[in-house]
Amino acid sequence: MLESIIPPEVLCVEGPILADGWEVAPAEAEWASGFGPKRKAEFLTGRSYARRALGLSGADSPPIGAYPDRSPMWPEGIAGCITHTRDYCAVAVARKSLFRGIGLDIESVGRITDSIASKVFTDSEREALQAGPDSTRNARISAIFSAKEAFYKMQFPLTHIWVGFQDVSVRLEAEGRFTLELAKDIGEFSQGRVLAGRFLVAGDRVAALMVV
Ligand SMILES: CC(C)(COP(=O)(O)OP(=O)(O)OC[C@H]1O[C@@H](n2cnc3c(N)ncnc32)[C@H](O)[C@@H]1OP(=O)(O)O)[C@@H](O)C(=O)NCCC(=O)NCCS
Repeated sequence: MLESIIPPEVLCVEGPILADGWEVAPAEAEWASGFGPKRKAEFLTGRSYARRALGLSGADSPPIGAYPDRSPMWPEGIAGCITHTRDYCAVAVARKSLFRGIGLDIESVGRITDSIASKVFTDSEREALQAGPDSTRNARISAIFSAKEAFYKMQFPLTHIWVGFQDVSVRLEAEGRFTLELAKDIGEFSQGRVLAGRFLVAGDRVAALMVV
């Protein structure tokens, strides 16, 4: 699903959330032993796909722990990102010599309702939504939301700063591209800076990717 938005330097593994048969390090299985079934399946699927993606990149794949803020502990020299929906999971990794940060997010269309969008989106995002056709409204809501989450997950390992939904404004462009403008300084990312990302709509899923 994600080929069209993944740069060639980024290794991506994606697929369904696995109910069992995970390929994980013993430590990862141990960390998940106290989780409920749903959380266990998503966590261990993410770690299984991360192991495969690291293998494709030629990097070592030690157990990938999680910091208290939940961000994954990627091996030295690797940037990466994990995302999951109810039934799907994807992991993207790259060598830090190529990209210092990766943000990947997948959303199920319809999960973010009009009512949520009207509360968390910026004025310009809401205006753009009104201007577009109703037939694509739900997908566009998910794409804007997904772009914000992708930015959050890309920047967090670099800045360790929490970002609010009003702090960035997303503009969907043609051909699966979007721009994201910062309303305030966020660590190394200055107010007014405009970053570019890619998104796609595939059936009832939307994905967004940002790299820096
Ligand atoms: C952390 C957060 C981004 C997760 O997003 P989500 O759409 O709910 O969930 P996803 O399945 O796409 O991603 C979850 C994965 O993200 C990763 N993740 C969690 N926190 C992270 C962080 N702070 N930085 C980077 N990656 C993080 C983890 O790998 C997690 O999966 P795992 O716990 O199984 O390892 C979201 O819950 C959150 O807290 N957002 C903060 C507020 C925000 O988004 N503001 C908008 C910014 S513009």
